[in-house]
Amino acid sequence: MVKKNACVFISGYGSNLRSLILSSRNHTFPVSIKLIVCNNKNAKGVLLAKKNSIPCLIVNTKKRNFENIILLEIRKKNISLICLAGYMKIISKKFIRNFGKKIINIHPSLLPKFRGLNTFKRIIDENEKKTGCSVHHVDEKLDNGKIIIKKIFFIKKNDDIVSLKKKTQKLEHVAFSEAIIKLYRYN
Ligand code: GRF
Repeated sequence: MVKKNACVFISGYGSNLRSLILSSRNHTFPVSIKLIVCNNKNAKGVLLAKKNSIPCLIVNTKKRNFENIILLEIRKKNISLICLAGYMKIISKKFIRNFGKKIINIHPSLLPKFRGLNTFKRIIDENEKKTGCSVHHVDEKLDNGKIIIKKIFFIKKNDDIVSLKKKTQKLEHVAFSEAIIKLYRYN
């Protein structure tokens, strides 16, 4: 099986990156992670890149041309899938157009509900009965593109922000890889 080249964008802890690295070790998984892009040099996820010998590009988003630097590297590595795994920066319309291939994102809610930040607090405040995570295509609007996969769980009375995050991330670590498998099986 010829795997496609993927790039994972991160900003923080990198637990989703870790689950993708683990999945990509399976020879039937459709992509191989060839590049990690991070906009925070102190992110824990950067250590994962080093540990797994995956090239990691640290970008300074204060520089005007930082997306061009990313695009250059992505072209060099023949990347055909970008996975946004906790990348806390909005991807520009220009970048989406210039890349021209698949970009997917993982979000900790059942989209279209609770787009944007502070998801868990808003879910608790709204007294939601269930929540989960969504993996979706990235388009020019925030957390908006076509859904690839969603995973759901029911919220218990004693759940709080911390427990919701823990339960959601557990689902995310399965959902992201499943979404990638689905993406290449049906497209
Ligand atoms: C995840 O919960 C994801 O849904 C959100 O950012 C978080 C990243 O976590 N977009 P991690 O860095 O993968 O641990």
